[in-house]
Amino acid sequence: MLTDFAKAYLRISMSNILLTGGAGFIGSHIAVELRKAGYVPIILDNLSNSLDSAVDGISKITGRKEVLHNIDCRRENEVVDLIEKVGGISGIVHLAAFKAVGESVQNPSKYYDNNIGSMGSILRVAEKFCVEQFVFSSSCTVYGSPQEAEVTESTPMGNAYSPYGYTKQVGERMMIDLVKAGVKTKFVSLRYFNPIGAHPSAWIGEFPIGKPNNLVPYICQTSIGLRDELTVYGNDYNTRDGSCIRDYIHVCDIATAHVKALDYMLKPTAPQHDVFNIGTGKGNSVKEIIDTFKEVNEIEFKVIQGSRRPGDVAAIYANNQKAQSILGWHPEYTLADALKHAWNWQKTL
Ligand code: WQD
Repeated sequence: MLTDFAKAYLRISMSNILLTGGAGFIGSHIAVELRKAGYVPIILDNLSNSLDSAVDGISKITGRKEVLHNIDCRRENEVVDLIEKVGGISGIVHLAAFKAVGESVQNPSKYYDNNIGSMGSILRVAEKFCVEQFVFSSSCTVYGSPQEAEVTESTPMGNAYSPYGYTKQVGERMMIDLVKAGVKTKFVSLRYFNPIGAHPSAWIGEFPIGKPNNLVPYICQTSIGLRDELTVYGNDYNTRDGSCIRDYIHVCDIATAHVKALDYMLKPTAPQHDVFNIGTGKGNSVKEIIDTFKEVNEIEFKVIQGSRRPGDVAAIYANNQKAQSILGWHPEYTLADALKHAWNWQKTL
């Protein structure tokens, strides 16, 4: 006769979780944490912004042979075939999307087609398989340019400052409408702030295809000599040093929040839709990131001053109390840890 604990363990250990974008920077770290928690990550990625070698790194960390399924989320039939092949899924963690704010301003149709198209397809799959748990990779960019730099989940969604941010607003609204239409899946949106760093093992990390859009990978590539200099976009913002302020959070802390969200949705008391800020609760400026990176890694690199980048907001950082109190999640790594781990990863490339 199985005890309740054994039944729970058996259920979780048999819980396939479809992880879209699972070979990507954040997705690969989530795959590791899912495995660690007893879930089974079904890694799906079309490799448009990731490398299949990421799965080797995941396998090295989990000690199991993880499998990458090279599928585009918008090919719904292929996703359905995969799920039937693996024997069903109990949850979905949906990350597959393009995520560069600046790039989305230059190429909005690429973002609308991929981010919203993928979301529509994966939501239809969730309905078809009566999935219990759906975690959506949302973003602090849904807040637009907030009145106050510190945002809570009740801060109104402003006008998205970029097409990228708008695709995340639309994604959250799509889930709310499905709940209203009677879909029984439970949904959680995790509004990431700025994910940085790499796994402490340096087996997985961020691997931008082409020129990095984001600050920390650009700093890393400049430090290793792949880029001549780093440009600071804007020094006339209304912030303590004129450069933009963001909430930079270790990617491993982002990853653990997904396991907490999946566990939370298993509770009968969990609402059908919920939203959490996933950030450190602290803001740092671009110039502070540059100085901290140089200090903790004892390295120098060239920095030049440039004009503002379209789509950037001056300052935003998380109030993360809700995720701490309801999910039982809290960030475990410091900014120095993240910048050291980012540099350690860069040196392996
Ligand atoms: C940060 C700051 C730039 C590059 C990211 C993700 C997005 C979302 C939010 C999760 C800005 C400045 C950058 C450079 C610079 N996260 N910068 N020189 O735009 O806040 O968005 O976090 O969903 O997915 O993209 O991050 O790293 O691009 O920029 O001065 O070479 O660094 O202007 O002020 P952003 P970022």
